[in-house]
Amino acid sequence: MRKKVSIVGAGNVGATAAHWIASKELADVVLVDVVEGVPQGKALDLQEAMPIEKRDVQVTGSNDYAATANSDIVVITAGIPRKPGMSRDDLLNTNFKIMSDVVSKVVAQSPEAILIIVSNPLDAMAQTAFRQAGFNRERVIGMAGVLDSARFRTFIAEELKVSVENVTAFVLGGHGDTMVPLARYSTVAGIPITELIAPARLEELIQRTRDGGAEIVKYLKTGSAYYAPSAATVEMVEAILKDKKKILPCAAYLEGEFGISGYYIGVPCKLGASGIEKIIEIKLTPEEDAALKKSAEAVKELCAVIGV
Ligand code: LAC
Repeated sequence: MRKKVSIVGAGNVGATAAHWIASKELADVVLVDVVEGVPQGKALDLQEAMPIEKRDVQVTGSNDYAATANSDIVVITAGIPRKPGMSRDDLLNTNFKIMSDVVSKVVAQSPEAILIIVSNPLDAMAQTAFRQAGFNRERVIGMAGVLDSARFRTFIAEELKVSVENVTAFVLGGHGDTMVPLARYSTVAGIPITELIAPARLEELIQRTRDGGAEIVKYLKTGSAYYAPSAATVEMVEAILKDKKKILPCAAYLEGEFGISGYYIGVPCKLGASGIEKIIEIKLTPEEDAALKKSAEAVKELCAVIGV
């Protein structure tokens, strides 16, 4: 039997995630949204692309969570996106209500599923989902680090005119202005980028990474990025469905790792069939450690506002 991935929110991120999943033939996909007709229409349209793409997966759309029953993974993208001038944090109260409602409905249908949270503000929404679901922390994972790292990798590859395949990068911390791109752990064909890019220029690439989401919002005006966010989500989906044991930066609930307890923050995680199978505690310099703690403080403040 094929695996089943449900995606809540049939907007740009959700629909594009469905597209990547179907085109990689990873699983059957169920798109769910409150707007009548939209998940059905997008799902049917995508289904009709499958003969061309030569992929045997079923794509369905529904307004009813019953369609999501017994999913292996549920990706939650529901919520409002940013408009120009807004920070991810401005979405907090509205998306908190949406997330709480969605998670209770999802969990009722798929008590064994792994949840991947994509809605913003990311870390606080992952924490909301974790509290609401009552699952162990292995099964509630936030998507952000893969996206932020992909943006950093894009800028590094462009700068050095090398293949994106040669570039690895790690961005830790919260998915916000305090995110922590780790230059020391970012490499081109194994060579640390600190040896290839001058410090001042590197700082510019790091700042562009931090502002990566806002840069897209400024262009689009009516919404936020979706190709890279959905591709990042699907890399996590694939690692789990194929039990790849892949190390990716994800938002995870920390219980003492990195000296942080009781909050979601982006850290290196090993993803496999059980979700987060290990949190990898890499050694940080005092400056990196301070930046991660500062980022955790920012997450903590948001969580205090919504009481999660
Ligand atoms: C971004 C939004 C989706 O970083 O958080 O593009």
